[in-house]
Amino acid sequence: MNYQSLLREDLRLLQPYQTHVVAGNVRMDCNENPFCWPEGMREELFAREIAFNRYPDGEARALREAIAAYNRVEAEEVLVGNGSDELIQIILQTFGGRGRALMIHPPTFAMYQAAAAITATSLVEVPLISGTKLDLEGMLKALAENERIKVIIICNPNNPTGSLFPREEILRLVQNTEALVIVDEAYFEFSGETLIDVIRDYPNILIMRTFSKAFGMAALRLGYVVGCRELITDLNRVRQPFNVNAFSQQAGILALKYLSAYQSQIQVLKNEIQGLYAELAQIPNIQVLPTHANFLLVHSPAARIISEKLNQAGFTTRYLGNPKGVGESFRLSAALPEENRAFLQVLKEIVINSL
Ligand SMILES: Cc1ncc(COP(=O)(O)O)c(C=O)c1O
Repeated sequence: MNYQSLLREDLRLLQPYQTHVVAGNVRMDCNENPFCWPEGMREELFAREIAFNRYPDGEARALREAIAAYNRVEAEEVLVGNGSDELIQIILQTFGGRGRALMIHPPTFAMYQAAAAITATSLVEVPLISGTKLDLEGMLKALAENERIKVIIICNPNNPTGSLFPREEILRLVQNTEALVIVDEAYFEFSGETLIDVIRDYPNILIMRTFSKAFGMAALRLGYVVGCRELITDLNRVRQPFNVNAFSQQAGILALKYLSAYQSQIQVLKNEIQGLYAELAQIPNIQVLPTHANFLLVHSPAARIISEKLNQAGFTTRYLGNPKGVGESFRLSAALPEENRAFLQVLKEIVINSL
């Protein structure tokens, strides 16, 4: 039997997502929050009575209410997912698929492309200008020429560049298309900029968030989207009935209760990343982009070697290859303050010796 003939033809070139974890290294590759949870939160979570023998609340009512209060919207305008990765897939299963297209602005988060491939949605790419600015005219032109585009994802701030796109530009896109515009605000807590306030003005905008970054819950897989009730109802047609487990639901509720402690952590990380930016900008032969998130993109023709040497020296960063408009580069996120000091020292030595 020829096993290969079973696999969908359009999936043959799709590579499984790989992570390279080096035990003991400082993790600066995944844009996570390096701090432990706020004091007392872990104990409070473990003390909660959770019926593990029962299915979780499939509607995640209490969690959605907590998220709604945090964002000053209604629970009916919120849908939760097993990480925003799952939500991207649900969105494309609902509004994408064969014969339809997703428009993205490379370089951007790699999972959009993967979810498009899995859901047989074709991809329309309108690259950022100079790697940092939205090509709004190019996007409007692509929309006018291709009515198969049903979903657009704007990543704001953008992973991996850290750029923040002007609110007016995103709104112009929303106003000039009947496609669904997803604004992925995974790093909102660092940028402070959101379009959640317009969800009742436009039925075609959906804001996506995650607990994986500022809230330090990447292991628990929790994300959410906020949009008009009709959109949420449509996504619920496709969502698995028990997609978010009971433990993560409780953790999400608790995280929002500990918001002020998180805000102190976020402030430290914002200071750290700007401190790293200022230091990196002084190092000759590398270029660093300004950021509105908790990570930085560093460009250098020697990006691969630098990233490998950093890895050997105990600091894992993410080598990005040669993204359009940016060139050979790697990405790093803020670690703990003392780790960042050590990182800078090592990076300076590596750059001096590599270039
Ligand atoms: C822009 C962006 N969106 C979504 C995600 C995925 O988040 P989650 O952990 O909720 O799946 C990431 C993670 O790196 C990201 O950078």
